[in-house]
Amino acid sequence: MNHPNILVTDSDGIVSIEISRRDKKNAITGDMYRAMSAALFHARDHHHVRAVLIRGQDDLFTAGNDLTDFLHRKAGDPSAAIPFLHLLSSFEKPLVAAVAGNAVGIGTTLLLHCDLVYAADNATFQLPFVNLALCPEAGSSLLLPRVSGYQRAAELLLLGEPFDAATAREAGFVNRVVAADQLMATALAAAQRLAALPAQSLAVTKALMKRPPDRSAIEAMDEEVIYFSDLVAAPAAKEIFSAFLGKRIPNPEKIHGRQK
Ligand code: COA
Repeated sequence: MNHPNILVTDSDGIVSIEISRRDKKNAITGDMYRAMSAALFHARDHHHVRAVLIRGQDDLFTAGNDLTDFLHRKAGDPSAAIPFLHLLSSFEKPLVAAVAGNAVGIGTTLLLHCDLVYAADNATFQLPFVNLALCPEAGSSLLLPRVSGYQRAAELLLLGEPFDAATAREAGFVNRVVAADQLMATALAAAQRLAALPAQSLAVTKALMKRPPDRSAIEAMDEEVIYFSDLVAAPAAKEIFSAFLGKRIPNPEKIHGRQK
């Protein structure tokens, strides 16, 4: 999990994954994707981890995939980005991203897989796939039109021009824009709030929201009720109900289970 350009911490229920390769604008190499995957596996497999924060620094997120790696890639070569993106896309625990400065290519598309995205007012996003004679990756050809609407996604993906944090917020994949010096504190506070909530309910809620959107409301209700009826009978919910009725604070150990 240790990599000089991927700084991982695990504390207070939050795994923080910091991209840190500043001399190359945090461009991500194959080894860096593998280190981020290792950190996600660690977060996934440890009960005490309840949220993940993905970040750069307060003036830089990432210039995207390392272009030297792209230069040497041959058709059909495996990419370490793919397993990382699969893991991210199917990640059951909450994912929070803190974005500042440049967020190019995968620096923007990975955000489409995060649950809460906070951007600094100095953030600049760009999806220059066509400009690089490539095409969208990370599921962005599906997810961006879904979140932004077709024409807005087409503008961002076809023209590939840089856009600011306010535009990203209007496009629907940034929750909030904050001053750069408030970014990390804002994102960490959100991760802390998520980490304090019942983990199973968060996981079920994520899974339900990520189901294919072409289901009918009846299908969605039917599926929700399967999970709901288990959750309503589980110890976490019982503790929260009784705490409310007993006018006391819920016991976190009964909500989260014993820490390993
Ligand atoms: N891959 C590899 N190296 C990169 C890189 C990338 N994606 N992005 C930046 N770098 C390197 C530059 O080559 C330069 O290295 P050098 O100092 O050894 O010459 C260093 O990082 C600084 O980059 P520079 O372009 O001088 O910084 P800038 O602040 O003027 O511009 C960007 C920042 C992000 C706008 C610009 O670097 C850029 O457009 N990078 C390419 C982004 C891209 O196309 N990513 C792939 C998306 S699919």
